[in-house]
Amino acid sequence: MSNNQPIGMFDSGVGGLSVLAELHALRPTETILYYADNAYCPYGLRPPEEIRERSVAIARLLVEQGAKAIVVACNTASAMAIDHVRQQVPGVPFIGLEPAVKPGVAMTKSKNIGVLATPRTVSGERLRWLIETHGGDVKVHSVAAAGLVELVEAGILSGPRVDAALRPFLDPMIGAGVDVVVLGCTHYPYLRSAIQAYVGPEVAVIDSGTAIARRTQSVLDVAGLLSASFEPGTWSIQTSGDVAEVGPVAELLTGGPVAILHRDPKARTD
Ligand code: DGL
Repeated sequence: MSNNQPIGMFDSGVGGLSVLAELHALRPTETILYYADNAYCPYGLRPPEEIRERSVAIARLLVEQGAKAIVVACNTASAMAIDHVRQQVPGVPFIGLEPAVKPGVAMTKSKNIGVLATPRTVSGERLRWLIETHGGDVKVHSVAAAGLVELVEAGILSGPRVDAALRPFLDPMIGAGVDVVVLGCTHYPYLRSAIQAYVGPEVAVIDSGTAIARRTQSVLDVAGLLSASFEPGTWSIQTSGDVAEVGPVAELLTGGPVAILHRDPKARTD
């Protein structure tokens, strides 16, 4: 493994680009291979077995393309699949993410925080463990926010459709007196402005993007794999979906032209 190799990163779709942006800001000389599994998006409604299969197939593809480490830029895949992927694809460090429950608990004064996440993340063991371990005397209101991923995938980030989609999730949180909303899905930072406007300025809206970027830096540092280049790193996107659909949304989210290719790794049985 050499430090000039790229970092692999994947998500069910374009949401993990919010993590790519944080990592690129922190380590601008790293080259990043981003995989968006749009043909299978959203993961939040798929069976765990299928999420595991897709995660392994994508991780193998990224390793074949030279990834020195892989960031699982998806809370759902991290919760459902990361242990399995580590087992199936040995020899490369994996960095997963989880909802920022611990920082949310540390911030709240009202002793009530909300967690917005996908149905799979909300019903998963990992979130239950996080709440049991870090929740203390804070009441954590977790909401399975079905439908928000689809809005981001369609490039709809604000306006009446977004507010209408947010209402059933955020109104009960506001009613319960939350003063922190944790964004437990990497798609949701793209809805941050709409969410912040909905809950008002007194409520903090937080995510895990900066934390996972720092964690990735530290894992690479310990392994001696941080890029030694002085040149700016590049990044590119591969998708199992339709590049004509995904490309423009990726450009909207990243604010620039993107290099995007279609590629769909099928699950292997070996
Ligand atoms: N960005 C993924 C996450 O962080 C979305 C999962 C989905 O496709 O439902 O959970």
